[in-house]
Amino acid sequence: MRIVLAVGGGIAAYKSAEVARLLVKAGHEVQAVLTASAQEFIRPLTFSTLTGKKVITELFSESSYVEHIEVAREHDLLLIAPATAGILARLANGHADDFLSTMYLAFTGNVVLAPSMNDNMWSHPATQANLALLESRGAKIVSPGDGFLACGTTGPGRLAEPEDIVAAITPKSDLEGETILITAGPTQEPIDPVRYLSNRSSGKMGYALAEAALNRGAKVILVSGPVNLKPPAKAEVIAVRTAVEMRDAVFAHLEGATIIVKCAAVADYRVANVSQQKIKKTAARLSLEFDPTPDILAELGRKKGDRVLIGFAAETENLKQEAERKLESKNCDMIVANLAAAVESDTNEVMLALRTGETISLPRASKREVAEKIFDQVLKLRLAMSAHGD
Ligand code: C5P
Repeated sequence: MRIVLAVGGGIAAYKSAEVARLLVKAGHEVQAVLTASAQEFIRPLTFSTLTGKKVITELFSESSYVEHIEVAREHDLLLIAPATAGILARLANGHADDFLSTMYLAFTGNVVLAPSMNDNMWSHPATQANLALLESRGAKIVSPGDGFLACGTTGPGRLAEPEDIVAAITPKSDLEGETILITAGPTQEPIDPVRYLSNRSSGKMGYALAEAALNRGAKVILVSGPVNLKPPAKAEVIAVRTAVEMRDAVFAHLEGATIIVKCAAVADYRVANVSQQKIKKTAARLSLEFDPTPDILAELGRKKGDRVLIGFAAETENLKQEAERKLESKNCDMIVANLAAAVESDTNEVMLALRTGETISLPRASKREVAEKIFDQVLKLRLAMSAHGD
């Protein structure tokens, strides 16, 4: 691939020299770009030596062609590592005040951002809003890790390891041949012709799983409750409203599925006597009676065969115990547990409870990144299960 490696001005800039070395070693053609602040931390000579190419350090040069447009046109991928808070803000707002921000606007290929900054700067709503905006426009984020930061504090903000950054830009096709059935979003249980009961699930986690799976070569069947999201173009989408409709759609598509991810926030109860007419307002107290809905995941647990079955658990307390209990009681291979507060968010912090007895806590990251890690674990689990003849 032809890659622009742009380096921002943060202490982690020294690590991007290793990123450049690994990219060149993997056979990529690398054009390094250093912002003015990056040059306070690391010299262009380091990158020109590693990449064998003159490094771009400013917007205006004496050359006869319009360099920021040419560079944008000639490269397939723009990787920014470290992406500082300032770079994220400038890109999110479309500023064009240096080589990187100007070239970014002209760039039509894939963009990968590896942010790094102080933990408070990272958590600031402005930074998180900029990141969410850039991600919604298609940028892939390689989230920082947790650890000791140069400013003396410990927390999220440390640049991802160079190997992980390079792995993130390497296309995978490790889900080729799989048919993945994903449920997403809430269900709506009618009360009368105009009212319903539902929950705050946004569907973002399930849609991120669908995108990640498609990107890794899988066929995806997405059974979706009502959400405000555009489904990935290549997914087969089945739109449902109620828990019963979701159950029917899932079992109608179970046959060909090899992996099932039950990400949807299914209502546990539905109104027993749905009124055929709109319920009138009176001064009296109104009671509704509920019947339990079918537990789709539990039924899948009984009928799964050798499919990999993944359930979700959104809890307000006792995350680990609840995840382990559901793993067992619903006969799943993995439970992805998160705090209920994550439902509407763009990021998620989850714990994976696996059939092997292992539990893995993942650091807070975008839902897309969490999706990638879930599938990494599914593939490992499959290997472990076949080794045990499970
Ligand atoms: O037991 P609990 O409802 O918390 O378990 C959550 C998991 O079960 C999720 O994976 C959800 O999709 C699934 N579920 C289901 N059918 C229901 C309720 C929950 O498949 N009626």
